[in-house]
Amino acid sequence: MMQLVLQKDAVLHTRNPMLYGHFLEHFHRQIYGGVYDPSSPFADADGFRTDVIEALRNIKTPVIRWPGGCFVSAYHWKKGVGKNRVPYFDKAWRMEESNAFGTDEFIRLCEKIGCAPYICTNAGTGDAEEMSDWVEYCNLKTEGEFARARIQNGYEKPYNVKYWSIGNENYGSWEMGAKEAHEWSRLVLESAKMMKRADADISLSAAALNNKSWNTTLLQAAGQWLDWISIHQYWDGLWRENNPSDYETCMNFANNLTSQIDSVRSLLTEMGLEKKIKIAFDEWNLRAWHHPNHDAPTSDKEKYLAPRDKNDLNSTYTMADAVFSACFLNALLRNADIVGMANFAPVVNTRGAIFTHKDGIVKRSTYYVFELYANYMYDQVIGFTCKDGGDSVDITATKDSQTGAVAIAAVNKHPADAVTIEIDGVLPGTCVIRTLNGESADDYNDVGRDSVRIKTSNGTPASGGRLTAELPPHSVTVISFG
Ligand code: AHR
Ligand code: AHR
Repeated sequence: MMQLVLQKDAVLHTRNPMLYGHFLEHFHRQIYGGVYDPSSPFADADGFRTDVIEALRNIKTPVIRWPGGCFVSAYHWKKGVGKNRVPYFDKAWRMEESNAFGTDEFIRLCEKIGCAPYICTNAGTGDAEEMSDWVEYCNLKTEGEFARARIQNGYEKPYNVKYWSIGNENYGSWEMGAKEAHEWSRLVLESAKMMKRADADISLSAAALNNKSWNTTLLQAAGQWLDWISIHQYWDGLWRENNPSDYETCMNFANNLTSQIDSVRSLLTEMGLEKKIKIAFDEWNLRAWHHPNHDAPTSDKEKYLAPRDKNDLNSTYTMADAVFSACFLNALLRNADIVGMANFAPVVNTRGAIFTHKDGIVKRSTYYVFELYANYMYDQVIGFTCKDGGDSVDITATKDSQTGAVAIAAVNKHPADAVTIEIDGVLPGTCVIRTLNGESADDYNDVGRDSVRIKTSNGTPASGGRLTAELPPHSVTVISFG
């Protein structure tokens, strides 16, 4: 029996809702056939999938990062706006990009979803001028060539894109335009200067590495211009071999979620930047994307294009993905003083929370984790004491700063055993218990199969304000009080 005592007045942090953000890249079926599919019966007049948009609205998607990812490191945004879209060969993923979906389409999509756009610029083959011209196109009212081009393209009002980042993983040999630390820090400095001269109000990040000396060089050179520092992580390394780890292995991954956050936090604190610069964990997923040989010297498309379809196997995304993702969101809530944004990679298809097919969408197990956290967890992270918790239950507690209502997220990682939890210090009156689970730890959703879902019940705390509830094995539960 696990005993919890909530400390409603111990407010630890106020979380930024952008912790529940997403990432959208021009890779496989994320854009074409994902969010954008004019031929689909679900397409609206702009060609966007209305079923995808509705699903993203249902989980209050706060922000979407676009267009990459590796893709962006040779992407030239000017080819993706205006009447005449010329296709080009994308050397990141070695296939033709039609340019049919560009900046204007991305902004339209974000407007329909009701989320903030977050643009990642090309710091691979791009330069400070191209990045800052993009800011001009989006955010200047009427001045200069690029604001005028936006108006010419039919978009009178500036987009006021607030969130920008310089580059993707330009530290990695797999990235086009990869750079050494000193090259990187100089490019970030010069690009940041020009981007902020175009619009001083943008909130700017730069790609960082899980490496102290790299990040120190970056922050010493450009920290004065940065509002964020971006980090990425995938735990089940499926880039080359698509052999998804089993439930127990994924739970081991869930025991090591914050090593990057911890090291970046200590560096920012050491440099006295922890109040000025926040962490954007702007790509994360338990499962790395499968794309073997994309950077290998082979011309056999069967070796590097066809394998990407394996990302679409819905049986991959089990309760392991849901339980891991809930533990990760709990880790973000516990670190909400330094992590201000996180982007699940990606939004749709590949390893995303949503899978599209010709007759509709599949809500994979991870979709329901976002439905629980974005809709039923509150903005203030509060304290609690815990006894006999064992190590299979991962908990965070939150409070609504407006109403005082309380909600806790309780994740039971154990593959077989339920845990009974006793919660003291709750508000009187009934509470709502929402539990995400499947028939087994390996259960998943697919076309015509929706056994992974949220079950809702009411709980009635005893007169002394104590609630007893059961946490089933391999499950995610949010209990809302008041
Ligand atoms: O595997 C997909 C890639 O992962 C993204 O494009 C990149 O940002 C990260 O390395
Ligand atoms: O292209 C994605 C990159 O490929 C991953 O981030 C890297 O670790 C892998 O080698």
